[in-house]
Amino acid sequence: MNITLRPGRPGDAEACGLICYQAFCAIADQHNFQHDFPDAATAVGFVSFLLARNDIYSVVAEADGRIAGSNFLWENAVIAGVGPITIDPSAQNVAVGRRLMEDVMRRARERGFAGTRLVQAAYHNRSLSLYTKLGFDAREPLSTVQGPPLGIAIPGHDVRPATESDVDASNQVCFKIHGHDRAGELMDAIKEGTATVVEHAGRITGYATMVGFFGHAVGETNEDLKALIGAAQAFAGPGFLLPSRNGEVFRWCLQHGLRVVQPMTLMSIGLYNEPDGAFLPSVVF
Ligand SMILES: CC(C)(COP(=O)(O)OP(=O)(O)OC[C@H]1O[C@@H](n2cnc3c(N)ncnc32)[C@H](O)[C@@H]1OP(=O)(O)O)[C@@H](O)C(=O)NCCC(=O)NCCS
Repeated sequence: MNITLRPGRPGDAEACGLICYQAFCAIADQHNFQHDFPDAATAVGFVSFLLARNDIYSVVAEADGRIAGSNFLWENAVIAGVGPITIDPSAQNVAVGRRLMEDVMRRARERGFAGTRLVQAAYHNRSLSLYTKLGFDAREPLSTVQGPPLGIAIPGHDVRPATESDVDASNQVCFKIHGHDRAGELMDAIKEGTATVVEHAGRITGYATMVGFFGHAVGETNEDLKALIGAAQAFAGPGFLLPSRNGEVFRWCLQHGLRVVQPMTLMSIGLYNEPDGAFLPSVVF
Protein backbone atom coordinates (compact mmCIF):
# COMPACT_ATOMS: atom_id res chain seq x y z
CA MET A 1 0.00 0.00 0.00
CA ASN A 2 1.44 3.36 -1.07
CA ILE A 3 0.72 5.89 1.70
CA THR A 4 1.13 9.63 1.16
CA LEU A 5 0.39 12.51 3.51
CA ARG A 6 -0.88 15.97 2.65
CA PRO A 7 -2.48 18.91 4.50
CA GLY A 8 -6.21 18.70 5.11
CA ARG A 9 -8.53 20.85 2.98
CA PRO A 10 -12.12 22.00 3.62
CA GLY A 11 -13.26 19.66 0.84
CA ASP A 12 -12.01 16.65 2.86
CA ALA A 13 -14.71 17.10 5.49
CA GLU A 14 -17.14 14.59 3.99
CA ALA A 15 -14.64 11.76 3.41
CA CYS A 16 -12.65 12.29 6.62
CA GLY A 17 -15.80 12.83 8.70
CA LEU A 18 -17.29 9.58 7.44
CA ILE A 19 -14.07 7.71 8.23
CA CYS A 20 -14.01 9.36 11.66
CA TYR A 21 -17.54 8.11 12.33
CA GLN A 22 -16.92 4.60 11.01
CA ALA A 23 -13.55 4.15 12.75
CA PHE A 24 -14.93 5.07 16.17
CA CYS A 25 -18.09 3.00 15.65
CA ALA A 26 -16.09 -0.07 14.62
CA ILE A 27 -13.89 -0.14 17.72
CA ALA A 28 -16.78 0.75 20.05
CA ASP A 29 -18.95 -2.03 18.60
CA GLN A 30 -16.15 -4.56 19.06
CA HIS A 31 -16.16 -3.76 22.79
CA ASN A 32 -19.86 -3.07 23.20
CA PHE A 33 -19.33 0.58 24.11
CA GLN A 34 -21.57 3.41 23.01
CA HIS A 35 -20.66 5.34 19.85
CA ASP A 36 -18.61 8.52 20.18
CA PHE A 37 -20.74 10.34 17.58
CA PRO A 38 -24.53 9.90 17.41
CA ASP A 39 -24.47 9.83 13.58
CA ALA A 40 -22.22 10.36 10.57
CA ALA A 41 -23.46 13.92 9.97
CA THR A 42 -22.27 15.00 13.43
CA ALA A 43 -18.81 13.58 12.73
CA VAL A 44 -18.69 15.30 9.32
CA GLY A 45 -19.72 18.60 10.96
CA PHE A 46 -17.02 18.22 13.61
CA VAL A 47 -14.29 17.46 11.06
CA SER A 48 -15.49 20.38 8.97
CA PHE A 49 -15.10 22.63 12.04
CA LEU A 50 -11.57 21.30 12.62
CA LEU A 51 -10.54 21.83 8.98
CA ALA A 52 -11.81 25.42 9.05
CA ARG A 53 -9.80 26.52 12.10
CA ASN A 54 -6.44 28.13 11.53
CA ASP A 55 -5.17 27.19 14.99
CA ILE A 56 -5.65 23.47 14.28
CA TYR A 57 -3.15 21.70 12.03
CA SER A 58 -4.61 18.93 9.90
CA VAL A 59 -3.05 16.07 7.94
CA VAL A 60 -4.76 13.60 5.59
CA ALA A 61 -3.40 10.18 4.58
CA GLU A 62 -4.06 8.75 1.15
CA ALA A 63 -3.52 5.08 0.42
CA ASP A 64 -3.16 4.31 -3.28
CA GLY A 65 -4.77 7.68 -4.01
CA ARG A 66 -7.82 7.24 -1.74
CA ILE A 67 -8.33 9.05 1.57
CA ALA A 68 -7.54 6.56 4.33
CA GLY A 69 -7.51 8.70 7.44
CA SER A 70 -6.74 12.02 9.11
CA ASN A 71 -5.22 13.54 12.20
CA PHE A 72 -5.24 16.94 13.89
CA LEU A 73 -2.99 18.97 16.17
CA TRP A 74 -4.59 21.63 18.34
CA GLU A 75 -2.13 24.49 18.49
CA ASN A 76 -4.22 26.93 20.53
CA ALA A 77 -2.54 26.34 23.91
CA VAL A 78 0.87 26.02 25.56
CA ILE A 79 0.60 22.23 25.33
CA ALA A 80 -0.41 20.89 21.90
CA GLY A 81 -3.31 18.44 21.68
CA VAL A 82 -3.63 15.50 19.26
CA GLY A 83 -6.81 14.24 17.71
CA PRO A 84 -9.07 12.91 16.63
CA ILE A 85 -6.93 10.48 14.62
CA THR A 86 -9.03 8.03 12.64
CA ILE A 87 -8.21 5.49 9.95
CA ASP A 88 -10.63 3.81 7.56
CA PRO A 89 -11.39 0.43 9.22
CA SER A 90 -10.34 -1.32 6.00
CA ALA A 91 -6.90 0.35 6.15
CA GLN A 92 -6.13 -0.09 9.84
CA ASN A 93 -3.12 -1.85 11.34
CA VAL A 94 -0.90 -1.26 8.31
CA ALA A 95 0.99 1.78 9.69
CA VAL A 96 -1.26 4.60 8.42
CA GLY A 97 -1.92 5.63 12.03
CA ARG A 98 1.77 5.58 12.86
CA ARG A 99 2.53 7.85 9.89
CA LEU A 100 -0.20 10.31 10.89
CA MET A 101 0.99 10.35 14.50
CA GLU A 102 4.62 10.86 13.50
CA ASP A 103 3.54 13.77 11.31
CA VAL A 104 1.74 15.70 14.06
CA MET A 105 4.57 14.94 16.50
CA ARG A 106 7.05 16.41 14.01
CA ARG A 107 4.80 19.43 13.63
CA ALA A 108 4.61 19.91 17.42
CA ARG A 109 8.41 19.74 17.68
CA GLU A 110 8.87 22.24 14.85
CA ARG A 111 6.40 24.62 16.47
CA GLY A 112 8.32 24.40 19.75
CA PHE A 113 5.56 23.01 21.95
CA ALA A 114 6.94 22.01 25.35
CA GLY A 115 4.58 19.05 25.49
CA THR A 116 1.89 17.26 23.53
CA ARG A 117 -1.11 15.43 24.96
CA LEU A 118 -4.01 13.26 23.93
CA VAL A 119 -6.83 11.25 25.45
CA GLN A 120 -7.40 7.67 24.26
CA ALA A 121 -10.14 5.10 24.86
CA ALA A 122 -8.60 2.90 27.55
CA TYR A 123 -10.13 -0.26 26.07
CA HIS A 124 -8.44 0.32 22.70
CA ASN A 125 -5.31 -1.87 22.83
CA ARG A 126 -3.99 -0.69 19.48
CA SER A 127 -4.08 3.05 20.13
CA LEU A 128 -2.61 2.56 23.62
CA SER A 129 0.22 0.46 22.15
CA LEU A 130 0.87 2.81 19.25
CA TYR A 131 1.04 5.94 21.40
CA THR A 132 3.22 4.22 23.99
CA LYS A 133 5.64 3.02 21.29
CA LEU A 134 5.83 6.57 19.95
CA GLY A 135 6.89 7.88 23.36
CA PHE A 136 3.64 8.97 25.01
CA ASP A 137 3.28 8.12 28.69
CA ALA A 138 -0.01 7.31 30.40
CA ARG A 139 -0.47 10.17 32.88
CA GLU A 140 -3.94 9.86 34.29
CA PRO A 141 -6.71 7.26 34.19
CA LEU A 142 -9.98 9.00 33.38
CA SER A 143 -13.63 8.07 33.64
CA THR A 144 -16.08 9.61 31.20
CA VAL A 145 -19.03 10.47 33.43
CA GLN A 146 -22.55 11.28 32.27
CA GLY A 147 -26.02 11.76 33.72
CA PRO A 148 -28.70 14.32 34.42
CA PRO A 149 -27.53 17.73 35.68
CA LEU A 150 -27.13 17.64 39.46
CA GLY A 151 -28.41 21.08 40.45
CA ILE A 152 -26.33 20.93 43.63
CA ALA A 153 -24.83 24.01 45.31
CA ILE A 154 -21.79 23.67 47.58
CA PRO A 155 -22.08 26.10 50.51
CA GLY A 156 -19.43 28.82 50.37
CA HIS A 157 -18.46 27.96 46.77
CA ASP A 158 -20.63 30.07 44.53
CA VAL A 159 -20.76 29.45 40.78
CA ARG A 160 -21.66 32.12 38.22
CA PRO A 161 -21.10 32.72 34.49
CA ALA A 162 -17.56 33.88 33.69
CA THR A 163 -16.87 37.28 32.12
CA GLU A 164 -13.76 38.74 30.52
CA SER A 165 -12.90 40.50 33.78
CA ASP A 166 -12.46 37.04 35.40
CA VAL A 167 -9.77 35.92 32.97
CA ASP A 168 -6.68 37.03 34.91
CA ALA A 169 -7.78 35.50 38.20
CA SER A 170 -8.89 32.31 36.43
CA ASN A 171 -5.58 32.02 34.59
CA GLN A 172 -3.78 32.29 37.91
CA VAL A 173 -5.70 29.31 39.27
CA CYS A 174 -4.89 27.32 36.14
CA PHE A 175 -1.22 28.30 36.38
CA LYS A 176 -1.10 27.20 39.99
CA ILE A 177 -2.56 23.78 39.12
CA HIS A 178 -1.05 23.02 35.69
CA GLY A 179 2.02 25.28 35.57
CA HIS A 180 0.61 27.16 32.55
CA ASP A 181 -2.58 28.96 31.73
CA ARG A 182 -5.17 28.06 29.10
CA ALA A 183 -6.17 31.64 28.37
CA GLY A 184 -7.15 31.14 24.73
CA GLU A 185 -9.64 28.38 25.45
CA LEU A 186 -11.07 30.30 28.39
CA MET A 187 -11.60 33.40 26.25
CA ASP A 188 -13.30 31.31 23.54
CA ALA A 189 -15.60 29.75 26.14
CA ILE A 190 -16.49 33.11 27.65
CA LYS A 191 -17.41 34.39 24.18
CA GLU A 192 -19.57 31.31 23.62
CA GLY A 193 -21.22 31.74 27.01
CA THR A 194 -20.28 28.30 28.36
CA ALA A 195 -17.65 29.31 30.96
CA THR A 196 -18.33 29.48 34.69
CA VAL A 197 -16.23 30.52 37.69
CA VAL A 198 -16.45 29.45 41.32
CA GLU A 199 -15.78 31.94 44.11
CA HIS A 200 -14.76 31.09 47.63
CA ALA A 201 -13.95 33.55 50.41
CA GLY A 202 -14.32 36.46 48.02
CA ARG A 203 -12.02 35.32 45.23
CA ILE A 204 -12.02 33.05 42.18
CA THR A 205 -10.84 29.57 43.15
CA GLY A 206 -11.74 27.67 39.99
CA TYR A 207 -13.39 27.78 36.60
CA ALA A 208 -14.80 25.56 33.87
CA THR A 209 -14.79 26.37 30.17
CA MET A 210 -17.64 23.83 30.11
CA VAL A 211 -18.23 20.68 32.15
CA GLY A 212 -18.20 18.29 29.21
CA PHE A 213 -16.05 16.34 26.77
CA PHE A 214 -14.58 19.42 25.08
CA GLY A 215 -14.24 21.60 28.15
CA HIS A 216 -11.72 21.70 30.97
CA ALA A 217 -12.02 22.79 34.58
CA VAL A 218 -9.67 23.56 37.47
CA GLY A 219 -10.33 24.10 41.16
CA GLU A 220 -8.02 24.81 44.07
CA THR A 221 -9.95 22.21 46.07
CA ASN A 222 -12.33 19.35 45.43
CA GLU A 223 -15.14 21.52 46.82
CA ASP A 224 -14.52 24.02 43.99
CA LEU A 225 -14.66 21.22 41.43
CA LYS A 226 -17.84 19.76 42.96
CA ALA A 227 -19.43 23.22 42.84
CA LEU A 228 -18.64 23.54 39.11
CA ILE A 229 -19.96 20.05 38.34
CA GLY A 230 -22.98 20.54 40.59
CA ALA A 231 -23.94 23.78 38.81
CA ALA A 232 -23.51 22.51 35.23
CA GLN A 233 -26.71 22.66 33.18
CA ALA A 234 -25.67 19.60 31.16
CA PHE A 235 -22.59 17.49 30.45
CA ALA A 236 -22.01 18.09 26.74
CA GLY A 237 -20.93 15.25 24.47
CA PRO A 238 -20.35 11.73 25.80
CA GLY A 239 -19.68 13.15 29.29
CA PHE A 240 -16.99 14.96 31.27
CA LEU A 241 -13.56 13.46 31.91
CA LEU A 242 -12.99 12.86 35.59
CA PRO A 243 -9.55 11.75 36.84
CA SER A 244 -10.39 8.36 38.35
CA ARG A 245 -7.69 8.80 41.00
CA ASN A 246 -9.70 11.66 42.48
CA GLY A 247 -11.68 9.18 44.56
CA GLU A 248 -13.43 11.84 46.61
CA VAL A 249 -15.01 13.64 43.65
CA PHE A 250 -15.55 10.36 41.79
CA ARG A 251 -17.52 8.90 44.74
CA TRP A 252 -19.45 12.15 45.11
CA CYS A 253 -20.48 11.97 41.43
CA LEU A 254 -21.53 8.34 41.72
CA GLN A 255 -23.43 8.96 44.96
CA HIS A 256 -25.40 11.63 43.11
CA GLY A 257 -26.46 9.25 40.37
CA LEU A 258 -23.92 9.94 37.64
CA ARG A 259 -22.74 6.94 35.65
CA VAL A 260 -19.43 5.89 34.12
CA VAL A 261 -19.70 5.72 30.33
CA GLN A 262 -16.20 4.56 29.48
CA PRO A 263 -12.63 4.54 30.78
CA MET A 264 -10.06 6.72 29.03
CA THR A 265 -6.40 7.58 29.49
CA LEU A 266 -4.69 10.95 29.43
CA MET A 267 -1.30 10.51 27.75
CA SER A 268 1.46 12.98 26.97
CA ILE A 269 4.98 13.38 25.68
CA GLY A 270 7.39 16.11 26.70
CA LEU A 271 6.63 18.53 29.51
CA TYR A 272 3.94 17.33 31.88
CA ASN A 273 3.38 18.97 35.25
CA GLU A 274 1.59 16.74 37.72
CA PRO A 275 -1.51 18.84 38.50
CA ASP A 276 -1.43 20.52 41.91
CA GLY A 277 -5.16 20.72 42.56
CA ALA A 278 -8.47 19.45 41.28
CA PHE A 279 -9.07 19.32 37.53
CA LEU A 280 -11.09 17.96 34.64
CA PRO A 281 -9.14 17.63 31.37
CA SER A 282 -10.76 18.14 27.99
CA VAL A 283 -10.59 15.44 25.34
CA VAL A 284 -8.32 17.78 23.38
CA PHE A 285 -6.95 21.10 24.53
C1 LIG B 1 -5.95 3.87 16.60
C2 LIG B 1 -5.68 4.04 15.11
C3 LIG B 1 -5.60 5.50 14.77
C4 LIG B 1 -4.31 3.39 14.85
O1 LIG B 1 -4.02 3.45 13.47
P1 LIG B 1 -3.59 2.13 12.65
O2 LIG B 1 -3.23 2.57 11.29
O3 LIG B 1 -4.66 1.10 12.80
O4 LIG B 1 -2.31 1.63 13.49
P2 LIG B 1 -0.82 1.34 12.99
O5 LIG B 1 -0.85 0.14 12.12
O6 LIG B 1 -0.17 2.55 12.44
O7 LIG B 1 -0.09 1.05 14.39
C5 LIG B 1 -0.52 0.10 15.30
C6 LIG B 1 0.67 -0.28 16.15
O8 LIG B 1 0.20 -0.90 17.36
C7 LIG B 1 0.68 -2.23 17.44
N1 LIG B 1 -0.36 -2.99 18.09
C8 LIG B 1 -1.64 -3.17 17.66
N2 LIG B 1 -2.31 -3.89 18.56
C9 LIG B 1 -1.44 -4.17 19.57
C10 LIG B 1 -1.54 -4.86 20.81
N3 LIG B 1 -2.68 -5.44 21.18
N4 LIG B 1 -0.45 -4.91 21.62
C11 LIG B 1 0.71 -4.33 21.24
N5 LIG B 1 0.86 -3.65 20.08
C12 LIG B 1 -0.19 -3.59 19.28
C13 LIG B 1 0.98 -2.63 16.02
O9 LIG B 1 1.88 -3.67 15.97
C14 LIG B 1 1.56 -1.32 15.47
O10 LIG B 1 2.87 -1.12 15.97
P3 LIG B 1 4.08 -0.59 15.02
O11 LIG B 1 3.70 0.80 14.57
O12 LIG B 1 5.27 -0.58 15.88
O13 LIG B 1 4.14 -1.56 13.89
C15 LIG B 1 -6.75 3.32 14.23
O14 LIG B 1 -6.76 1.96 14.54
C16 LIG B 1 -8.16 3.88 14.39
O15 LIG B 1 -8.58 4.74 13.64
N6 LIG B 1 -8.93 3.37 15.38
C17 LIG B 1 -10.31 3.78 15.61
C18 LIG B 1 -10.43 5.22 16.05
C19 LIG B 1 -9.60 5.50 17.28
O16 LIG B 1 -9.69 4.83 18.29
N7 LIG B 1 -8.77 6.56 17.21
C20 LIG B 1 -7.90 6.93 18.29
C21 LIG B 1 -8.55 7.89 19.17
S1 LIG B 1 -7.51 8.24 20.57
